[in-house]
Amino acid sequence: MKLLKQAIMEKGRVLSNDVLKVDAFLNHQIDPELMQEIGKEFTERFKDEGISKILTIESSGIAPAMMAGLYLGVPVVFARKRKSLTLVDGLFTAKVHSFTKKETNEISVSSEYLLAGDVVLIIDDFLANGQAARGLVDIVKQANATLAGVGNVIEKGFQAGGDLLREQGIRVESLAIIDSLENNQITFREE
Ligand code: G4P
Repeated sequence: MKLLKQAIMEKGRVLSNDVLKVDAFLNHQIDPELMQEIGKEFTERFKDEGISKILTIESSGIAPAMMAGLYLGVPVVFARKRKSLTLVDGLFTAKVHSFTKKETNEISVSSEYLLAGDVVLIIDDFLANGQAARGLVDIVKQANATLAGVGNVIEKGFQAGGDLLREQGIRVESLAIIDSLENNQITFREE
């Protein structure tokens, strides 16, 4: 997606050989117009799948997921990383280990909002090692819902997440795939 790649080139900062900072438009400050275009792009890619719900994870997945939900005309559910006072009964949960942060969170979604019969599109900001996606896929299975695919704003193609999901036959659509961040250079995969 051209507009996204432009934003990454203009506003992204390479922090190390494997971390890209995009706080200027995705992870801290959010660019609503870019999110709108991202929502349209996900919609274009998944519009024929009969999607009834979008599932994401707090916090940075929510903005792109919302925009996709707006254009697909479906509700957006986000998995919580922390226990909520009001989220007590009927929970689907999964453990998600972050290699980056070296911590494990239990994520949860209320069974009220994810039903057997739902056709679910998972959306997230980054696909890195795929642990968050794996947890969300697990929750879709617990709900006996159908998984339409996983949409990512940015995939780091040099980390294992994308392969892990595709090897399971899951459709993965990433709007920008980065093959390398080495030498302070952002190299995109050719589309
Ligand atoms: P994984 O879920 O794919 O296995 O990713 P990993 O454990 O490596 O990443 C943990 C967190 O760091 C996730 O956000 C993920 O989106 C984010 N992340 C991973 N690689 C990068 C990167 O190169 N740049 C940026 N900006 N973020 C990255 P999170 O903890 O869920 O944070 P948030 O959604 O609350 O912002």
